[in-house]
Amino acid sequence: MDSRRHARVAPPVAVAALLLLLLLLLLRSGPAAATTVDFASQVRAAELRAVARMAATERHSRPGRYAKYTVGHAWTYTTAQGWASGYVSGGVWLMYQMTADARWRRRAAARQAAIGAMPITSDSLNLGALFFPSYIRGFSLTSDQRFREKAVEAALAAAGRYDPVVGAMRSRAGDAFNVIVDSLVKSQLLWWAADHGGPATLRDIAYRHVWTTARDFMRDDGSTWHIVFYDTATGAVTLKTTSAGYGLESMWARGQAWAILGFAAAYRETGDELFLQAARRATDRYLADLPADMVPYWDFRDPAIPAAPRDSSAAAIAASGMIDLALCEPDAPNRARYAAAARSTLASLMSPAYASLGANPALLLHGTYSSQAAISDRGLAFGDAFFLEALVRLRRLRPQGLMLRVARAQASAGEASLAVDRRLDTAWTARGAQWLELDLGVACSVGAFRAALLLGDDRAARLRVVTSSDHRHWARAVTTMASGQTPGYETFGFVPRVARYVRVFLDGTTADSVDSVAEARLFTSS
Ligand code: GLY
Repeated sequence: MDSRRHARVAPPVAVAALLLLLLLLLLRSGPAAATTVDFASQVRAAELRAVARMAATERHSRPGRYAKYTVGHAWTYTTAQGWASGYVSGGVWLMYQMTADARWRRRAAARQAAIGAMPITSDSLNLGALFFPSYIRGFSLTSDQRFREKAVEAALAAAGRYDPVVGAMRSRAGDAFNVIVDSLVKSQLLWWAADHGGPATLRDIAYRHVWTTARDFMRDDGSTWHIVFYDTATGAVTLKTTSAGYGLESMWARGQAWAILGFAAAYRETGDELFLQAARRATDRYLADLPADMVPYWDFRDPAIPAAPRDSSAAAIAASGMIDLALCEPDAPNRARYAAAARSTLASLMSPAYASLGANPALLLHGTYSSQAAISDRGLAFGDAFFLEALVRLRRLRPQGLMLRVARAQASAGEASLAVDRRLDTAWTARGAQWLELDLGVACSVGAFRAALLLGDDRAARLRVVTSSDHRHWARAVTTMASGQTPGYETFGFVPRVARYVRVFLDGTTADSVDSVAEARLFTSS
């Protein structure tokens, strides 16, 4: 490739291309295009803030201690037994995913260690919440077999809480058999374990647990109960109630968010229409009753509304669930609706109304830990973790920016054209530290690299993306991890710049030394 020729023609072409792009954006949809750019910038800024704030939180968290909620400008802490500790560890793994910085990987492994060190038996509580966001994400990002074994052990213990007469896994301790809506995450633990060395029976138990929850927790209007008690002799429901919401018939915002998240995941896992209907109904009820800024009051039926506290953690959980639902929803208008609702929710959470920009160490303000115990208007560490999860899940959605035409591809080794042949069953492959480069032909405003990695649901990879206008001077764009959870596309956004060449450096995967990109694309923004 003649880089001097390109260097000579690039500047005027760059200006023309930029003007053309701006014109296109304006012609396309006017204000909406501007919103697109703003949302991507909001995400970049939120990621940067998260790195700084999570690092400070980690510096102040002793081993085995887990940030819980803020009091004033400081975190309070809980131990590994606390239900949210798995999400807190998961938040640290998400920082590793975002940054690909090995210090975060070491931090995350250390943070979750106290959870894995606890005895795991069928008497253990919250096994889904403790192990699904932590050890399983850790395994996806590292392929560390010790994490896999621990998560399978936890899944087997959770399955020991299954009662075949009731058709569900028991939630809380106590005399009466009970299930809480939050426990849908247990099924995710079991599904994952069944696919990663655990017995196939875990799938059946996971399915029955969600099926029973869908049958007994959904009200006709799509709202959900918080807790249901059962007679273990007959399997009959003995009581439906709440110990978290405002009242018996109320709609506890976080419970509704757990339902959105849990039913969406169940549909993704099984393709069962019943779970799709449950996910849609829970989501549609939630969306219909939200205030204009997309962040729910802690309970939708609190008569103190609009003076009642909000719960930003419920919004973050719901946003993550709605992205998951948008990714598997078969109906196109619904897909667009759920993706748009998730983006609007995140835009609100990233706005100064909810983003912690001052002395409060959390990422999000205005979380309600427990309104009945009057712990509201706080930063919540698990809410922050779901906010990060939603930001990372956004990578799976199609970018909002325009797709750019790639003129040609080259690589340091291997057949680069296979990464741009529009076929997911062929891939550019090379061994070890290599690069793949996409050439736009002319300089354009570029803000996202989107790629599908071969076997991307089985192994993660570190990607370092750089850009250039002249093929001589290269600027950093983003260094990050592919999730290790999908063979489909993921988008790696960066601050948009004018560039003609985008080069991605890879150095094998967490499973082996082969780099394999099935398809790669470039977009104006993420
Ligand atoms: N899983 C407990 C809660 O949401 O408060």
